[in-house]
Amino acid sequence: MWGRAEPSTHQRVLFEPSTLGRPGAGYPPTPFEGSRRRNAMPPKRQRDQAAPKPTSPTGKVEVGVSFGDDRRAQAGEHLTTAQGLRLSDTDHSLKAGARGPSLLEDFHLREKITHFDHERIPERVVHARGAAAHGTFRAYGNAESVTKAGFLAKGRETPVFTRFSTVLGSRGSADTVRDVRGFAVKFYTEEGNFDLVGNNMPVFFIQDGIKFPDVIHAGKPHPDREIPQAQTAHDTFWDFVSLHTEATHHVLWAMSDRGIPRSYRTMEGFGVHTFRLVNTAGETSLVKFHWKPVAGVHSLVWEEAQIAAGADPDFHRRDMADGIEAGAPLEYELGLQLLPDTPDETFEGIDLLDPTKIVPEELAEVVLVGKLTLDRNPTNYFAETEQVAFHTGHLVPGIEITNDPLMQARMFSYLDTQLTRLGGPNFTQLPINCPHVPVNDNLRDGMHQTAIHQGVTPYKPNGIDGDRPIADDTGYVHLPRPVEGVKVRANPVSFDDHFTQATLFWLSMSAVEKAHIVEAFTFELSKVYEMAIRERELAVLANVDGELCARVAAGLGLPAPTGKPAKGVVPSPALSQVPVAPGPIAGRVIGVVASPGADVPGIAKLRKAAEARGAVVRVIAEVGGQLGKGATKEVVERTLLATRSVEFDAVVVAGGATVTDPRLPVLLQEAFRHCKVLGAWGGGADLLRAAGIDTDAPGVLLADTMVKASAIALLDAVGLHRVWDRAVPAGEA
Ligand code: HEM
Repeated sequence: MWGRAEPSTHQRVLFEPSTLGRPGAGYPPTPFEGSRRRNAMPPKRQRDQAAPKPTSPTGKVEVGVSFGDDRRAQAGEHLTTAQGLRLSDTDHSLKAGARGPSLLEDFHLREKITHFDHERIPERVVHARGAAAHGTFRAYGNAESVTKAGFLAKGRETPVFTRFSTVLGSRGSADTVRDVRGFAVKFYTEEGNFDLVGNNMPVFFIQDGIKFPDVIHAGKPHPDREIPQAQTAHDTFWDFVSLHTEATHHVLWAMSDRGIPRSYRTMEGFGVHTFRLVNTAGETSLVKFHWKPVAGVHSLVWEEAQIAAGADPDFHRRDMADGIEAGAPLEYELGLQLLPDTPDETFEGIDLLDPTKIVPEELAEVVLVGKLTLDRNPTNYFAETEQVAFHTGHLVPGIEITNDPLMQARMFSYLDTQLTRLGGPNFTQLPINCPHVPVNDNLRDGMHQTAIHQGVTPYKPNGIDGDRPIADDTGYVHLPRPVEGVKVRANPVSFDDHFTQATLFWLSMSAVEKAHIVEAFTFELSKVYEMAIRERELAVLANVDGELCARVAAGLGLPAPTGKPAKGVVPSPALSQVPVAPGPIAGRVIGVVASPGADVPGIAKLRKAAEARGAVVRVIAEVGGQLGKGATKEVVERTLLATRSVEFDAVVVAGGATVTDPRLPVLLQEAFRHCKVLGAWGGGADLLRAAGIDTDAPGVLLADTMVKASAIALLDAVGLHRVWDRAVPAGEA
């Protein structure tokens, strides 16, 4: 009979939120224990995800302990094949006679060459060039009220792996190119891995991830000749950004000193998007993540970046690795810009879902909630830095994403690209990607499976294993939020303002920073062949600031168009990098020019003072070797043939140094032009003057002898990073 029937079990569960998505009657299923089935499956739970017995790649078996250094492999005494067969010779292939052809049966030759042939994996499509370090994050505990994320609980220490990168260049490109830098941190938390995959700039080129392939294709080398490498100074990049004005704010950042950091240790980092924090009471706040470098925010100057790209393409990775090895870890504090979670998701008129916008720090303070210390270099570049896989979707309870359309696309892209880059779905099992907590994912098989899973129930629900592993509310719960809307391909109207924050950035710069931005635009646009593109970009700049546009146009020899820049924009002093007081100098390098007969004890005094602050002194001379004798000796670490000024944050000429090599004046002049601290003691000042250096200029420090006070004055000056007074008229910087 037709009528209104009781809802079926299936219908009931459809309307009971707590069981949504779960099967119907009999949930949770009970194990077969006690059932009447004959020969029932063994009821006792097997550990589904138990790891295989630990065996290092050398074949050494370790029971009950972690691999430790054995993971490094290749440390055994005897050379073997991959099968563990000891070899007697690896230098000669098996041949039919000493002058004969190689034999197909030479299994060792074929294995060795085959493995070599497959040593490379695809490099990342973006951020291919990177360098990384291990470390620890220590939480201060003051974020506990706004997020339940365990790694932010008071005193919690979490191991981390951080990879810095450039975006556009290939894996072998230079470190110091003008580009955005990736700042990706993997926290191995007690609740699973959390990845904060950020950049050293707080905004992005595009508002919607669907345009990521466009901006990257435009920035990459031209597809016909594959030039230029790792550069934005070419037609396709400027064609794209001049047509696509939402990139303007980001382009201002990229053309500023932020595009050429002095080192990874002197870079800020940003999560860019707005995230949502959830506390234990289920209350939410919106947040922007910041990394604040303890060493301050400092950059190279453009000529220095260009010289370094040739003289030392590994400039940044070397700086990081050397610094860590010398006992000067990289340090950053994690900052939260907390913003109320209002229905319109805006703050002071700024749309928080628009990744081309910042919230000025003067409007919302950055609260420091923990410290990141990077103090351990990777053991193997490939195994760790290359194989690490970051993903914006690696989240922990207490941190959620928002509807920022750039973020939404990223949630798809990272795992997808890693499937190709890392050769299948099991890259989470690689040591660098493994969470430091038990994994019970029910995922099975696939290429390069290294786990030997036990049990027979990699599915849910299951009755055989008591429906384990369990999924319940102790896990990650997406906070219920209403979603509704008309299906459209569109942005909110609030995304339409492409210029006001670019103007804000420009107006917040000091005179010297403005000069650098003008030079960068002029340099890049002068490399663009198509006149129409140069003119179009000038029209964009006219809408940012008339003075900026006019100065770039003057450099290009083009008329400056007029635009309609926003009026009444209030600058944000926090955006300027120019320091007001000396900062830390850990990791900085001071070059001391010397020769036989130079004041070696004076050098030793300077070294002692520098090392006490974590800085390094390197002796530069015409030829290598040792200066001085006995206890007071100094090793020449750099010859003038093998060094350039870019290696040093300051250059000092030791008393008594006599150098005739014509490379010395070049080194001193470059250091002077790049606004670095110069100094000399005793007769060393003569070498400065012989190089044409104005010894009365700001930041040129002279002393009769190298005593403690002169060392301190010099190191304090290095703490100001540059002597900007030499670059701009006094008072304008
Ligand atoms: C705010 C915007 C973005 C930031 C801050 C950002 C940051 C990063 C960083 C730091 C890396 C390097 C990770 C590493 O060190 O291994 C990276 C890689 C990557 N990003 Fe983004 N990205 C952004 C936008 C996007 C968008 C919109 C997409 C695509 C829709 C995307 C796709 C990728 C891909 C495919 C990789 C390579 C990942 C790999 O091969 O492991 N990114 N990104």
